[in-house]
Amino acid sequence: MTITDPRTGSHVIDRIVFSADEIEARIAELGREITDAVPADLDLVLIGMLKGSLPFLADLARAIPRPVRVDFMVAASYHAGTVSSGEVTLKYEPDTPLEGRFVVIVEDIIDSGTTLTRLLPMFEARKPAQLEVCALLHKRLATLDPPVKWVGFDAPSEFLVGYGLDYAEQFRNLPYIGVLRTDDG
Ligand code: IMP
Ligand code: MG
Repeated sequence: MTITDPRTGSHVIDRIVFSADEIEARIAELGREITDAVPADLDLVLIGMLKGSLPFLADLARAIPRPVRVDFMVAASYHAGTVSSGEVTLKYEPDTPLEGRFVVIVEDIIDSGTTLTRLLPMFEARKPAQLEVCALLHKRLATLDPPVKWVGFDAPSEFLVGYGLDYAEQFRNLPYIGVLRTDDG
């Protein structure tokens, strides 16, 4: 699928970084790894960070052949001018009880790591039996503590769009992940 700007008729993606087939194959592996890691007697809860994780969460949940609960969270970060203050709050917190369960936070991409660093303690406070992160992409700019257990792909430090990732709320619908064309580049 190519996306064409209806006003100019030109393609908006410069380069595909991860194809739909590569993403599908990697998610099948992640699904198996998560399935194998969850003890049989624990309930598994996947919590997707909206909006970017939407396609990843949907495909990942279907790659896990065991009972699984799905919920969401919505985070808000506060910016003073163009600089992030590093302050993150939850606008929507999952209703699903997490105590004693195997909880996996599903993220589209880890960039600075600020979002997760702020949010993980809030989830720890709900006393899950185990709390892990599964991120489709990791730019490896930050090391999280504890480290992210499951990563789909190491990402280049470029701005990526597609498969949930947006630029100004556009391009989440691309079935692949790519780099935007810049007119001056
Ligand atoms: P962090 O808190 O800096 O790790 O930022 C993570 C969030 O920033 C992700 O969940 C994305 O919503 C957004 N983000 C970071 N890098 C990109 C990118 O290359 N394309 C689109 N969104 C990105
Ligand atoms: Mg975003």
